[in-house]
Amino acid sequence: MSEKSPMVQEEGVDMPSPAAVVSRDDAQSRRPPVEQPVFSVRDLSVSYGKNVALKGVTMDIRPRRITAIIGPSGCGKSTLIRCFNRMNELIPGAQVDGQVLYHGEDIYAPGVDPVVVRRHVGMVFQRPNPFPKSIYDNIAFGAKINGYKGDMDELVERSLRRAALWDEVKAKLKKSALDLSGGQQQRLCIARAIAVEPDVILMDEPASALDPIATVRIEDLMQELKRDYSIIIVTHNMQQAARVSDETAFLYTEVDEATSARWGILVEFGKTGRIFTSPRDKRTEDYVSGRFG
Ligand SMILES: Nc1ncnc2c1ncn2[C@@H]1O[C@H](COP(=O)(O)OP(=O)(O)OP(=O)(O)O)[C@@H](O)[C@H]1O
Ligand SMILES: [Mg+2]
Repeated sequence: MSEKSPMVQEEGVDMPSPAAVVSRDDAQSRRPPVEQPVFSVRDLSVSYGKNVALKGVTMDIRPRRITAIIGPSGCGKSTLIRCFNRMNELIPGAQVDGQVLYHGEDIYAPGVDPVVVRRHVGMVFQRPNPFPKSIYDNIAFGAKINGYKGDMDELVERSLRRAALWDEVKAKLKKSALDLSGGQQQRLCIARAIAVEPDVILMDEPASALDPIATVRIEDLMQELKRDYSIIIVTHNMQQAARVSDETAFLYTEVDEATSARWGILVEFGKTGRIFTSPRDKRTEDYVSGRFG
């Protein structure tokens, strides 16, 4: 398969497309395919003006897994997750250094269109933020902008079904999305994110504004979605990270005593079971055992 790079819209060198990473031939051969990371983060630092918020993060995100980012408030979790679809550049004064490779391609390279990046890498925020439009139009909106030519009714139904919301809303698709409950609105936002068929879904504390029952529904939904998508989730809730994620990244704030400057670092990253049961770093151990945070 020698498709054009999915990120660079102008003519350019051939880059592997997401679908090309594990080819059909690999999948059918006896040797297990070599799994390529969906994201490779290399020495990533982010500053807001003169303040460094995140320093020297290096990690690989595996495809079709749930990767949790945990750590105390202010350690840079939201800053890190926003780097995966160039959302930080919407913040005036934000500066990103280092590399974020998406299927091997640097999403910060010249010529890469952030709008195209965000089509591949969707985002769901802490507070459900449906558009003040009908349920139907919330789903159809992004597809229309992208010039979707297929059957819109079918796309709306499929997206709502995949977000486990269809049965609750099928009789009121033309009603305002703002009349849904918080948990329903969040599932609608997930449906809206998947309607444009992304490859990765970023979620920054997607359940922190929801009650326990709505939270369980979102967690169940994430398990369903990881069959098709790579998911990166920021969560404050360590039980949630332990329950839902395959891999966990623990960030922590370093402090320069002389200047009181503070910045986030990646302390430890690995399989969630190991991070929670036998962390290698004392700071991880103290955090996951609830000794601070
Ligand atoms: N828009 C912004 N402008 C300036 N500084 C910011 C901005 N967003 C975050 N920061 C700073 O960057 C650092 C990391 O913030 P960030 O929001 O990434 O932390 P967090 O781990 O997500 O915290 P929380 O758990 O409270 O959401 C903090 O010192 C914060 O003040
Ligand atoms: Mg945050």
